[in-house]
Amino acid sequence: MNLELLNHGFIPEEICYKLPETFSDVEKLALELPKVLANEQIEARVLKLEAEKDVDTLTGPQLERAMLIYSYIGHAFMWGKSNDKNLIPLQIAKTWHKISIKLERPPILSYASYALNNWKMLDSSQPFDLENIVIVQNFLGGVDEDWFIMIHVAIEYEAKEILSSLNKYFFDSGDASNLEDALKSIKKINHIMNRMPEKCDPFIYYNRVRPYIFGWKNNPTTPEGVVYEGVEEYDGKPQIFRGETGAQSSIVPMLDALLGVTHSDDPLKEYLDEMRLYMPKEHRDLLNNLDAWSQTERSVVVESKDSKDKNLIDEIIKEVHVFRNKHLEYARIYIYEQSLTNDSNSNIVGTGGTPFMKYLDKHLQETVPSND
Ligand code: HEM
Repeated sequence: MNLELLNHGFIPEEICYKLPETFSDVEKLALELPKVLANEQIEARVLKLEAEKDVDTLTGPQLERAMLIYSYIGHAFMWGKSNDKNLIPLQIAKTWHKISIKLERPPILSYASYALNNWKMLDSSQPFDLENIVIVQNFLGGVDEDWFIMIHVAIEYEAKEILSSLNKYFFDSGDASNLEDALKSIKKINHIMNRMPEKCDPFIYYNRVRPYIFGWKNNPTTPEGVVYEGVEEYDGKPQIFRGETGAQSSIVPMLDALLGVTHSDDPLKEYLDEMRLYMPKEHRDLLNNLDAWSQTERSVVVESKDSKDKNLIDEIIKEVHVFRNKHLEYARIYIYEQSLTNDSNSNIVGTGGTPFMKYLDKHLQETVPSND
């Protein structure tokens, strides 16, 4: 298993910010997306794009950039046009599909494009800090949309520390000091999580941010799915893919695996497992390997540790519980309560298409120490 990834976390080492000249028309549209959406010009602009691009010569970071741009334009088209036809025109569909084959994840906006590859440093001579990053691509734009994504990015960045500390502890000659470092890191993550309401207002999130990140699975406006025009492999049949959600972040499921937190087998757990198909392939592979390790070898490793270590592991699990508790509170405030005063978008399912209140609460209840 590629444990080296745990040391680096899931923020890419290199992010591409501009594609080669042959992509200049899509780069231009992506740049102008907030204005194009505000002026309701998305349909006309998409139909003017070149029908199909060659993606064979793109590097890994360029493919991620291409996935980001096509995903943003694809979602802007689906949720920003005036008619409710569930068809993505060939000007986007064909290239988007080719990129998705190369990256081995579906042609839809996923967390890797929305957060992991969508930021840069404001001042690169200064260290990473929530106040020193900017979001590169927007739908409508504005501080609430930026802050919602920035919090995710900052959590991913800090997660490098907890994951590399747990990697040292479980897979190297680790000791209690690694667990102490991991505990400090999860507390920092919770501190970042607490800052969401500072600049992301629930009304703006619900009405201006969230509508663009829905997918086409379990979505009442796309009951049959969405046709990707001109994609031979799909043979004209509508496709159903889930939308962007933090459930596609690898951090929490990896912490579950490393800390021995398990979720009982029921339909809700299936949602989480399915979310892995939307993660970058190397994240998904590591997660599946860590799960297998957690179910077989982990208990042997933990049994050989002393009670100080076990207590520290329990302390870390309690902090993951704190994280999930705050998260459930956000789902209630940012989605459920908003939906009571406004029925503009679904409160029954999350943007990833899950019945989230029941689902998030269940995972919170299951995040309990089990190492005694
Ligand atoms: C206003 C803030 C947030 C809201 C309203 C929110 C909402 C949701 C919803 C509704 C789900 C259910 C899946 C679905 O989309 O259908 C979910 C899942 C999830 N989200 Fe968030 N989210 C927020 C912030 C975050 C942040 C900052 C992270 C950090 C990476 C995160 C990580 C997760 C994870 C890991 C799951 C899977 C559930 C679990 O394993 O407990 N979310 N979120």
